[in-house]
Amino acid sequence: MTTDHLLANLFPGANEIPEQFRLPAPIEQRDYLVDGQLRTWDGPLAQVRSPVQVSGPDGDAPVIIGSTPLLNAETALTALDAAVRAYDRGQGTWPTLRVVERIQHVEAFLRRMREQRDAVVKLLMWEIGKNLQDSQKEFDRTCDYITDTINALKELDRRSSRFELEQDTLGQIRRVPLGVALCMGPYNYPLNETFTTLIPALIMGNTVVFKPAKLGVLLIRPLLEAFRDSFPAGVINVIYGSGRETVSALMASGKIDIFAFIGTNKAASDLKKLHPRPHRLRATLGLDAKNPGIVLPEVDLDNAVNEAVTGALSFNGQRCTALKILFVHEAVVDSFIEKFNHKLATLKPGMPWEDGVSLTPLPEPGKVDYLHALVADAETHGAHVVNRNGGVSRGSFFYPAVLYPVNPQMRVYHEEQFGPVVPIVPYRELETVIDYVLESDFGQQLSIFGTDPAQVGKLVDTFANQVGRININAQCQRGPDTFPFNGRKNSAEGTLSVHDALRVFSIRTLVATKFQAHNKDLISDIIRDRASSFLTTDYIF
Ligand code: G3H
Repeated sequence: MTTDHLLANLFPGANEIPEQFRLPAPIEQRDYLVDGQLRTWDGPLAQVRSPVQVSGPDGDAPVIIGSTPLLNAETALTALDAAVRAYDRGQGTWPTLRVVERIQHVEAFLRRMREQRDAVVKLLMWEIGKNLQDSQKEFDRTCDYITDTINALKELDRRSSRFELEQDTLGQIRRVPLGVALCMGPYNYPLNETFTTLIPALIMGNTVVFKPAKLGVLLIRPLLEAFRDSFPAGVINVIYGSGRETVSALMASGKIDIFAFIGTNKAASDLKKLHPRPHRLRATLGLDAKNPGIVLPEVDLDNAVNEAVTGALSFNGQRCTALKILFVHEAVVDSFIEKFNHKLATLKPGMPWEDGVSLTPLPEPGKVDYLHALVADAETHGAHVVNRNGGVSRGSFFYPAVLYPVNPQMRVYHEEQFGPVVPIVPYRELETVIDYVLESDFGQQLSIFGTDPAQVGKLVDTFANQVGRININAQCQRGPDTFPFNGRKNSAEGTLSVHDALRVFSIRTLVATKFQAHNKDLISDIIRDRASSFLTTDYIF
């Protein structure tokens, strides 16, 4: 297929969009959620432009799918005040509610959320260009995450319902909330990644200010009523606008206790610095990554290629866990590239709702130009685009470019491209790859492809202190969500998993007494009379 054919029918005419995937009219969103009320913003709005374009007689035109509120700092602070009031220095209804009741609120939310599946999935496609199947997967995975979180909390609570006796000290240990959480997610998983902090924060008894990602904002709108109706006033507040205007003010207030953020390490550092009492701020951060895939000379090449293609290019490479640089041993690099390109050529470009589509337009403004610049820079330093049609673009769409041979002079060797550019570095000595990992500013994950136990085993040991997860003969990924997800260096702060997130958003409180008759009697009476909701042996089934 020539370049012309490949992208000739990429963007549909307005009438060619299937009925069920059309958006009836631009959505002008003025609502935001503060203190249990949907309030109306009458200030400026941010336009929401879809990565999907429509073709017409005058060429391709962008599609404006709506607008969202651009709150100012003063309004954002009203959301913070509501969260602070609802927490009420730890005495509010929500932080003192029994765990079983908090779980009921989250279950009520989940029921309402499920009703919005179609609306959210459609907006995921239109706002960030994620294909239908992956959009549905994102929604369903998020619902599963909520269910798993509820079950993990029940288990935690069951374990905390017993007393422990150590060295004549009787104690009961429970995890309790920390305060007010600020939750912000990324545009590539605007629902899932945000909810993997938001839900644990809420269920552990914190109150929350949630600001959706820079893209993928309208898709939160169908959930606002569910948030409003499922939680007491002020427990969850949803604000919109530029991070610089709103989030800076929240952090500078010193009233945020937990900062849950997925984005760049630079933005995270800038925001953390604004907090006047950094020792009181707990942060859980998912940041930049440049995960390498390492292909050894003894390897199942077909498997390595399959994993590398999905690892590098699913959702157009816009995953923090994507394989962002491939080191391939010179003995196999030619066959690897041939097979890689063959597989890549089977990936279908198109609109997110089309059957079997995996390459879709990119939502970030300026992204296509940025990727062209990365390719041009690599070419200047001796790389070539080695796949057919690599790097051709049309509007917001960029066809994946495989760059070879890549070397350290090139920007793409160091920068996280977060898009469909696949740099391949040939190597002879493993030291080249080991040095790359050891010197890297990032430390999220890596993949090793090989079949020789001695070589793979040695590399595992070499990298065990470098990254949070080593994948053998498999692409990098976050799931399963019960496994720890973290990173070193500039890649993350803290560890998330269903279980770990409950820990991140809480702290243990211990109630202890000397193991003496009068104390035992006192504790027994408290339990019998139900005089405390902390000191209790109640068991959640
Ligand atoms: O963007 C980063 C995501 O956490 C990656 O999750 O590996 O399931 O795509 P994933």
